[in-house]
Amino acid sequence: MLCFGHRGAMGHAPENTLLSMQKALELGVDWIELDVYVVEGKLMVIHDETLERTTNGTGFVVDQTFDYLRSLDAGQGQKIPILEEVFDLVQKKAGINIELKGPDTAGPVAEFIERYRLKGLTDEDILISSFKHEELRKIKALDPRLRIGPLISKTPEGYAAFAESMGAFSVHVSLRAVTRALVEDAHDRGLEVYVYTINHPGDIVRMRSLKVDGVFTNYPERIIKEMV
Ligand code: G3P
Ligand code: MG
Repeated sequence: MLCFGHRGAMGHAPENTLLSMQKALELGVDWIELDVYVVEGKLMVIHDETLERTTNGTGFVVDQTFDYLRSLDAGQGQKIPILEEVFDLVQKKAGINIELKGPDTAGPVAEFIERYRLKGLTDEDILISSFKHEELRKIKALDPRLRIGPLISKTPEGYAAFAESMGAFSVHVSLRAVTRALVEDAHDRGLEVYVYTINHPGDIVRMRSLKVDGVFTNYPERIIKEMV
């Protein structure tokens, strides 16, 4: 069962900051999950569409200038990172799962990855997910080698058929929506199943019994401890 550090290791450090990513690496995650928006052509790593919850700023992320966003405190003096800073920190010590959160992110993320391919990034190092399945289809069309994983929060009719038809690598399912039938159907279709967000020991045991392939967690040490 792979361990995805959720927004880095947000149980230990301000979410989606370099500090959070560093903590996730120290805890030994297999993957780091983060959320991106595009602002003035820059890929900003932040979860909410507004700034109030995680920074000392106000307003919608996509309405701001890059300079304003970079002037903000995202917790413990951390800045909102740009995606490049995260890649340069992680240096392939873990995979990076980019969740396309903002509007119109597919194009800029595909271009970004193309640049990093020249620096040695391989298909196994990166996974693109989103609740916006249309953005996933777009990025897959732009770069067919990219692995994509649609996010869902409800058990779909037809189980994982929709994901297979998108050419997905994985299905990313909420704890509430995951069922044995869905996991088995996804596996029969050759898809991995990753479940969010798993923080409690009882849920960890249940995910193992369902044979899911990975989980997103705010506390990577809990998953990694369970796996020993
Ligand atoms: O990718 C798993 C999880 O991050 C999806 O939900 O709201 O935390 O981005 P959210
Ligand atoms: Mg996310």
